Amino acid sequence: YVCGPRPFMDMVGELAAASGPALPVHREDFAALPAQAHAGDGTIEVELARSGSTVLVPPDRTIADVLIERGVALETSCEQGICGTCLTRVLAGVPDHRDEFLLEDEQNAGELILPCVSRAKTARLVLDL
Ligand code: FES
Repeated sequence: YVCGPRPFMDMVGELAAASGPALPVHREDFAALPAQAHAGDGTIEVELARSGSTVLVPPDRTIADVLIERGVALETSCEQGICGTCLTRVLAGVPDHRDEFLLEDEQNAGELILPCVSRAKTARLVLDL
Protein backbone atom coordinates (compact mmCIF):
# COMPACT_ATOMS: atom_id res chain seq x y z
CA TYR A 1 0.00 0.00 0.00
CA VAL A 2 1.65 3.21 -1.12
CA CYS A 3 0.73 6.86 -0.81
CA GLY A 4 2.84 9.85 -1.77
CA PRO A 5 4.10 11.81 -4.76
CA ARG A 6 3.31 10.14 -8.08
CA PRO A 7 7.01 9.52 -9.05
CA PHE A 8 7.56 7.78 -5.71
CA MET A 9 4.47 5.61 -6.17
CA ASP A 10 5.53 4.81 -9.75
CA MET A 11 8.95 3.70 -8.47
CA VAL A 12 7.42 1.46 -5.79
CA GLY A 13 5.13 -0.06 -8.41
CA GLU A 14 8.03 -0.74 -10.75
CA LEU A 15 10.06 -2.37 -7.96
CA ALA A 16 7.09 -4.50 -6.93
CA ALA A 17 6.49 -5.57 -10.53
CA ALA A 18 10.17 -6.47 -10.93
CA SER A 19 10.19 -8.64 -7.83
CA GLY A 20 9.28 -12.11 -8.91
CA PRO A 21 6.57 -13.08 -8.25
CA ALA A 22 5.17 -9.57 -8.61
CA LEU A 23 3.78 -8.09 -5.42
CA PRO A 24 0.33 -6.47 -5.42
CA VAL A 25 0.50 -2.69 -4.92
CA HIS A 26 -2.44 -0.54 -3.98
CA ARG A 27 -1.91 3.15 -4.80
CA GLU A 28 -3.60 5.97 -2.93
CA ASP A 29 -3.87 8.77 -5.47
CA PHE A 30 -5.46 12.05 -4.54
CA ALA A 31 -6.12 13.03 -8.12
CA ALA A 32 -7.01 10.94 -11.09
CA LEU A 33 -4.38 10.31 -13.72
CA PRO A 34 -4.79 12.49 -16.81
CA ALA A 35 -7.71 11.30 -18.87
CA GLN A 36 -6.74 8.96 -21.67
CA ALA A 37 -8.10 9.47 -25.14
CA HIS A 38 -10.68 6.81 -25.86
CA ALA A 39 -11.51 7.48 -29.46
CA GLY A 40 -12.92 3.99 -29.96
CA ASP A 41 -15.56 4.21 -27.25
CA GLY A 42 -19.01 3.14 -28.34
CA THR A 43 -22.40 2.88 -26.71
CA ILE A 44 -22.59 0.23 -24.00
CA GLU A 45 -25.71 -1.74 -23.13
CA VAL A 46 -25.82 -2.13 -19.35
CA GLU A 47 -28.28 -4.61 -17.88
CA LEU A 48 -29.19 -4.29 -14.21
CA ALA A 49 -29.62 -7.87 -13.02
CA ARG A 50 -31.81 -7.14 -10.00
CA SER A 51 -34.41 -5.13 -11.88
CA GLY A 52 -33.93 -6.69 -15.29
CA SER A 53 -33.85 -3.25 -16.88
CA THR A 54 -31.34 -2.18 -19.48
CA VAL A 55 -29.82 1.23 -20.12
CA LEU A 56 -27.69 2.51 -22.97
CA VAL A 57 -24.55 4.44 -22.05
CA PRO A 58 -23.32 6.70 -24.87
CA PRO A 59 -19.58 7.21 -25.39
CA ASP A 60 -19.58 10.69 -23.86
CA ARG A 61 -21.21 9.67 -20.54
CA THR A 62 -20.16 7.43 -17.67
CA ILE A 63 -22.08 4.34 -16.65
CA ALA A 64 -22.56 5.88 -13.19
CA ASP A 65 -24.00 9.11 -14.57
CA VAL A 66 -26.57 7.29 -16.69
CA LEU A 67 -27.55 4.89 -13.90
CA ILE A 68 -27.99 7.66 -11.32
CA GLU A 69 -30.01 9.69 -13.81
CA ARG A 70 -32.31 6.67 -14.16
CA GLY A 71 -32.77 6.53 -10.38
CA VAL A 72 -30.49 3.57 -9.69
CA ALA A 73 -29.18 3.59 -6.10
CA LEU A 74 -25.47 3.76 -6.93
CA GLU A 75 -23.40 5.55 -4.33
CA THR A 76 -20.50 7.67 -5.62
CA SER A 77 -17.96 10.00 -4.08
CA CYS A 78 -14.79 10.92 -6.02
CA GLU A 79 -16.22 10.09 -9.47
CA GLN A 80 -12.59 9.71 -10.59
CA GLY A 81 -12.05 6.00 -10.03
CA ILE A 82 -9.87 6.38 -6.97
CA CYS A 83 -12.04 5.95 -3.85
CA GLY A 84 -13.88 2.68 -4.50
CA THR A 85 -17.28 3.95 -3.32
CA CYS A 86 -19.08 2.92 -6.53
CA LEU A 87 -17.54 -0.59 -6.63
CA THR A 88 -20.02 -2.90 -8.36
CA ARG A 89 -20.02 -6.63 -9.17
CA VAL A 90 -19.94 -7.60 -12.84
CA LEU A 91 -22.07 -10.64 -13.69
CA ALA A 92 -21.41 -10.76 -17.44
CA GLY A 93 -19.36 -8.87 -19.99
CA VAL A 94 -15.79 -7.63 -19.86
CA PRO A 95 -15.03 -4.39 -18.04
CA ASP A 96 -12.63 -1.84 -19.53
CA HIS A 97 -10.97 -0.71 -16.31
CA ARG A 98 -10.02 2.97 -16.18
CA ASP A 99 -9.79 3.29 -12.42
CA GLU A 100 -6.88 3.64 -10.03
CA PHE A 101 -8.56 1.65 -7.26
CA LEU A 102 -8.56 -2.04 -8.22
CA LEU A 103 -5.39 -4.09 -8.04
CA GLU A 104 -4.15 -5.54 -11.32
CA ASP A 105 -5.31 -9.03 -10.29
CA GLU A 106 -8.75 -7.68 -9.46
CA GLN A 107 -8.94 -5.91 -12.81
CA ASN A 108 -7.85 -9.04 -14.65
CA ALA A 109 -10.49 -11.12 -12.84
CA GLY A 110 -13.18 -8.91 -14.40
CA GLU A 111 -15.63 -9.45 -11.53
CA LEU A 112 -15.72 -5.85 -10.30
CA ILE A 113 -16.05 -2.44 -11.93
CA LEU A 114 -15.87 1.21 -10.91
CA PRO A 115 -18.69 2.56 -13.10
CA CYS A 116 -17.80 6.19 -12.41
CA VAL A 117 -14.91 5.91 -14.89
CA SER A 118 -14.70 2.41 -16.36
CA ARG A 119 -16.51 1.20 -19.41
CA ALA A 120 -16.72 -2.15 -21.24
CA LYS A 121 -14.68 -4.06 -23.77
CA THR A 122 -17.85 -5.88 -24.74
CA ALA A 123 -21.00 -4.29 -26.13
CA ARG A 124 -22.96 -5.41 -23.08
CA LEU A 125 -22.36 -5.56 -19.32
CA VAL A 126 -24.57 -7.14 -16.69
CA LEU A 127 -24.14 -5.53 -13.29
CA ASP A 128 -25.29 -6.72 -9.87
CA LEU A 129 -27.57 -3.74 -9.38
FE1 FES B 1 -14.90 6.93 -6.33
FE2 FES B 1 -16.21 5.60 -8.27
S1 FES B 1 -16.95 7.15 -6.97
S2 FES B 1 -14.23 5.23 -7.50
